[in-house]
Amino acid sequence: MCGIIAFLGNRDNAGKIVVDGLKKLEYRGYDSFGFAEKIGDKIRVSKSVGKISEFKETAKTFAKTNLAFGHTRWATHGKVNRVNAHPHASADSKVVVVHNGIVENHADLRKMLEKKGVKFVSETDTEVIPNLIADFLRKNSPREAVRKTAQKLVGRFAFVAAIAGESKLFAARNGSPLILGIEKFYPKSDEKLLAKVDGSAFFIGSDVPAFLDFTHDVVYLDDGELVEIEESPTKDHFHGHFFEIASGRPIKKRVISIDLKASRAEKGDFTHFMLKEIFEQKETITRALNQDEKQIERVAELIRRSFGTFFIGCGTAGKVCATAEYLFAKIARRHVNVIFGSEFDTQEAFLTDRTLLIAVSQSGETADILEAYKIAKQKKVKTVGVVNVAGSSVARQSDVVLPVNAGVEKAVASTKATTAQLAILTLLAFTVAGKPEEGKRVLAEAASSINDFLNPRYSAHLEKIARKIKNVESLYIIGKGADYPMALEAAIKLQEVSYIHAEGFAAGELKHGPLALITKGTPLIAFVPMGKFRADVLSNVAEVKARGGRIIGVSPKNDELFDEWIRVPAVGAAQPIVNIIPIQLLAYHLAVLRKNNPDLPRNLAKSVTVK
Ligand code: M6R
Repeated sequence: MCGIIAFLGNRDNAGKIVVDGLKKLEYRGYDSFGFAEKIGDKIRVSKSVGKISEFKETAKTFAKTNLAFGHTRWATHGKVNRVNAHPHASADSKVVVVHNGIVENHADLRKMLEKKGVKFVSETDTEVIPNLIADFLRKNSPREAVRKTAQKLVGRFAFVAAIAGESKLFAARNGSPLILGIEKFYPKSDEKLLAKVDGSAFFIGSDVPAFLDFTHDVVYLDDGELVEIEESPTKDHFHGHFFEIASGRPIKKRVISIDLKASRAEKGDFTHFMLKEIFEQKETITRALNQDEKQIERVAELIRRSFGTFFIGCGTAGKVCATAEYLFAKIARRHVNVIFGSEFDTQEAFLTDRTLLIAVSQSGETADILEAYKIAKQKKVKTVGVVNVAGSSVARQSDVVLPVNAGVEKAVASTKATTAQLAILTLLAFTVAGKPEEGKRVLAEAASSINDFLNPRYSAHLEKIARKIKNVESLYIIGKGADYPMALEAAIKLQEVSYIHAEGFAAGELKHGPLALITKGTPLIAFVPMGKFRADVLSNVAEVKARGGRIIGVSPKNDELFDEWIRVPAVGAAQPIVNIIPIQLLAYHLAVLRKNNPDLPRNLAKSVTVK
C-alpha cells in the first residue's frame, strides 16, 4: 500500500539506489511512481504513471547526489495520473514529501492553507503535508516544522520529507510502517537503546527489502515517532536522531540486526513469484510446525481460560480464521468467534480483560488489524499474533507471537503464508484439545503428501483445466465445514489474479438461491470430502450437474458426477490445507492464460495499510 524509500549517505548515486529500492517495493503499489533528488539547493522531482519495474533509465536519468527519496503508489485519493503521483512539493517548491496512508482531515487542512493563498495542483490528500511544513517553516526550525505538521495530521500515515537547501531527511510514522536502515552502523551496540545513531549512510523504507542489499541493521519506528537524519559536523558520516512527535522530546530506540537470508526473495527459475511460492509449500508447512512448544501451549492455555476468543484476519487471512471455527469445534470441542479485522470494532460490548484476540496476518501491517489492536489494548484484551513478517507492527504489539515462518511472500496473492497459517491454527486446535502430538502427526503427514503431489505434472493438469475454463464469465466454489471458508478463499484467489467473477458458498446453501446462477457449462468447483459429509456435498453437486453445470471435483476420490477430477490426498483435519493448493495453481494458470500478471494484480497491493 504505497512503498517508500529514502537515502542519505556517503554515495553520490542516491537516485539510482532509490529507484532500485522502489523496484523491490513494487508489490506495495504499482499505479505510478516517482523520486526526488537533491541537486544543490533545489529538489528535482521525476514521476510517471505505470509500474516502476517498466521504468527505463538512461545515462541522464539520475543526478549526482547523496540525497534522494521515492515512492510507488497505490492510489487512494485522486486518479492514477502523473500529477497525483508522488513525490509532492509545496507550492513554493521548498518542501518535497512522499507519503503512505491517508490524511483524513486533508479537506480542512487544504481549506486552511488555501485561505493563506496556497495553490494546490493535485487531487491527493498528501499535498497538504509539504504545504503545511512550508507554512510552519516560516517560524520554526525544519525539524519543528515537520513535527508540528505530523501533529496536525489525522489518520494513519508514514511520510518522508526533505527541505530545499538542507542536507537532511525527516520521516514520521503514525500507523503505517517505516523502518530505518543504517549502513556501517557504529559503534555496534545492538543491546543498547540509543537516541542518536551513527552510520555511513541511512535508508528509510516502508519495508526492509528496499535496502537489504546495503544493510541489515535497522530501527523500527513506532507510532508517534520522528527521525531526523543529517550529516555529521565532520562531514564524514551521518547521524539519525529520534523524537516523539507529540512533545518533540528525544527518544531512545534499539538497533536490530535482521536475518538477511529470511528477508530476501528471488524468483529463481520460476516465471512468477506466485508459482514459486505455491511450490515452496513443499516445505513451508513443516517450517510452520517448527514452533516453540511452550509458546503454543501458552496460547492454548490462554484460549482455555479466556471468556471469549476472537480470531481476526482480513481477506485471505480472514478466511484462514474462519476455518478456526470449524477446526476448534471438531478437534477441541470449543466455540471460538471469528470476525474480519474491519468488523472487530462492532464487538466492543463483549470485550473484557478475559477476552483473547488472535490476529492472523501475513504482513503484520494491515491497518484493519492494527485498529482492532487499538481497541483490544483499551479493553485490556490479551493479543496473540500469527504473523509471517518478523518485526512487523502486529508482531511488535502482540503479547504472544506465533511466527508463521513461511519466508518472504512477494506475490500479492497469498499462498504459502495461507497454508502455513492454516497449519498453525490446526496445531493450536489440537493443543487446546490436549493432543499436540496427534496434531503434529496429522500435519506432518499432510506436509509429506504435499511434497509428493505438488509437482510439475500436477501443475500441468491444472493448466489443462484452466485452458478449458479460461473464457468463462463466472465460476462458483462450494465446500462444507472447514472447506466452506476454503471455498471463500478459492474465490478470492481466482478473483484476484484471473479477474473472473468467482464466488464461494457453503455447499448446502446453493439450493437456497445461488443455484439460479447456474446455466449450461457454468463451472462449479466442489471440495468433496471423504467420510460422513461426502454424500451431502455430492447431492449438492448433483443439483448443479442437473442444470448443466460443469463439475470440477477436488477430492481424494473420483466420482461419476465430476467432469474434471483434481486429486488431493486424504489428510483428515489438514484437508483444507491440501484442498486449497490446486486452486492456487488453477488461479495462477488462469491468470497467465488470460495474460494477467499474477504477481501484481490490478487495483491491489500486498499489504493494506489504510482502513
Ligand atoms: O498481510 P495480511 O495477511 O494481513 O493481509 C490481509 C489481506 O489483505 C490479504 O490476505 C489479501 O486478501 C491477499 N491479497 C489475498 O491473497
